[in-house]
Amino acid sequence: RRTPLTGKDGFDLVVVANRLPVDFTVGPGGHVEWNRSPGGLVTALEPVMQASDGAWVGWSGAPDLASEPFDADDMRLVPVTLSADEIERYYEGFSNDTLWPLYHDVISPPTYHRTWWDAYRRVNQRFADAAVAQVAQGGVVWVHDYQLQLVPQMIRAQRPDVRIGFFNHIPFPPLELFQQLPWRRQVLDGLLGADLVGFQRAGDAANFIRAVRRLRAHTTRGPMITVPGEDGRDRHVRAAAFPISIDSRRFDELARSPEVQQRSREIRADLGDPDIMMLGVDRLDYTKGIRHRIKAYGELLQDGRLDVEHATLVQVASPSRENVDAYQELREHVEGAVGRINGEYAEIGHAAIHYLHHSYPPEEMAALYLAADVMLVTALRDGMNLVAKEYVAARSDDHGVLVLSEFTGAADELSSGALLVNPHDIDGMKDIIVAAAHMDHREQRKRMRRLRRKVLNDDVAKWSQSFLGVLTAMPSRVPHRRAS
Ligand code: G6P
Repeated sequence: RRTPLTGKDGFDLVVVANRLPVDFTVGPGGHVEWNRSPGGLVTALEPVMQASDGAWVGWSGAPDLASEPFDADDMRLVPVTLSADEIERYYEGFSNDTLWPLYHDVISPPTYHRTWWDAYRRVNQRFADAAVAQVAQGGVVWVHDYQLQLVPQMIRAQRPDVRIGFFNHIPFPPLELFQQLPWRRQVLDGLLGADLVGFQRAGDAANFIRAVRRLRAHTTRGPMITVPGEDGRDRHVRAAAFPISIDSRRFDELARSPEVQQRSREIRADLGDPDIMMLGVDRLDYTKGIRHRIKAYGELLQDGRLDVEHATLVQVASPSRENVDAYQELREHVEGAVGRINGEYAEIGHAAIHYLHHSYPPEEMAALYLAADVMLVTALRDGMNLVAKEYVAARSDDHGVLVLSEFTGAADELSSGALLVNPHDIDGMKDIIVAAAHMDHREQRKRMRRLRRKVLNDDVAKWSQSFLGVLTAMPSRVPHRRAS
């Protein structure tokens, strides 16, 4: 491993994301220990981080945890400290109770608080300053997601020499919703500090470009936005879609391992060897359509179109953002519905719904995917939905049916093999769940092969290379001066 910073003025590539790709625990002597937490983003970026001198700026996930930058997994990790108050206002407040619901079609009403906005600005500045301190002259900074939309402009103000990319992992809403945001102009200006603004779907990029035209009056031509610079020179910002993916090979290999296959058989046996095992895997979030899915499932039991002797639903709902009211309310609703349906329809040895409020390691997830005849992804709105792709990558046996909401980014890519549903249409969704449960093996194989071709080919390494390729090919300045 090269030692970063040796003889250099900084890192060639700096990733800025709300979370660091590590978890920490406080050891026996009160000292902090960091453990790798291999999320999707870190697997995506690991190869590029290792190939270049890479640093990652992010929050540890705990209050008031201050730590010097340190090296792990061939990258420099740069922790940003947040106080308990900042976690409440910047993370739980503005990020997850203002922007998250606003950007997800106001499924839950967004809350607008000026004090939250102040914290958002302050914390974004802290992330930007940390990135500025790490990046080499002429280097690349790649900023991620809705928690950090002001960072591109804040970096550019200090470092016009660096190339700045931004990727939004969640949807970008239509103008008619985005314009509710009292700080809509500041957010657009923050993003326009980047050279390249990436989105999951073409529709998200189009929403952004329209908002820029209407709320900032900048000229746009196709994906290019012309931003007048203070020095009289125009800048060009590109906005385009770069649909994210997963480390498909890793999931494919995991699911082929004898341990995972054994575990998958065990899971089915423990469920009482049902004819049809259905599976839902989500963060416990109101955007995921868990309530709609459970309602449809409960009605199918009530109608007698499914019965607990033959079918069962496993719902993994991993804990998320538990201090935000809307998430607490959702938990009450989901757990109430699961309790009622099990109370009504379950028999000894045959639960209607196995509800698991936990998160599991990738090995267990792969075993669950492999065990499931039908995968239910019924989000009301979702930037991409990587669970859909993980399910496909795990099914090297070419079996299993993916039921996929039209309101996910994944639906743009996987419509040729998935059964698409509108989760608001409960009757329509019930029919499709039944069709999925009864699909013959030939049809399953035909569809799964199409899905696998797509998911194994377009993996996350390709995604990051494609984004960084476009970013580094962009001229950092438009050569001509504006007339005037
Ligand atoms: C979504 C967001 C990510 C976020 C993740 C988990 O996928 O796009 O930015 O990290 O949810 O949410 P959390 O609030 O726990 O980071």
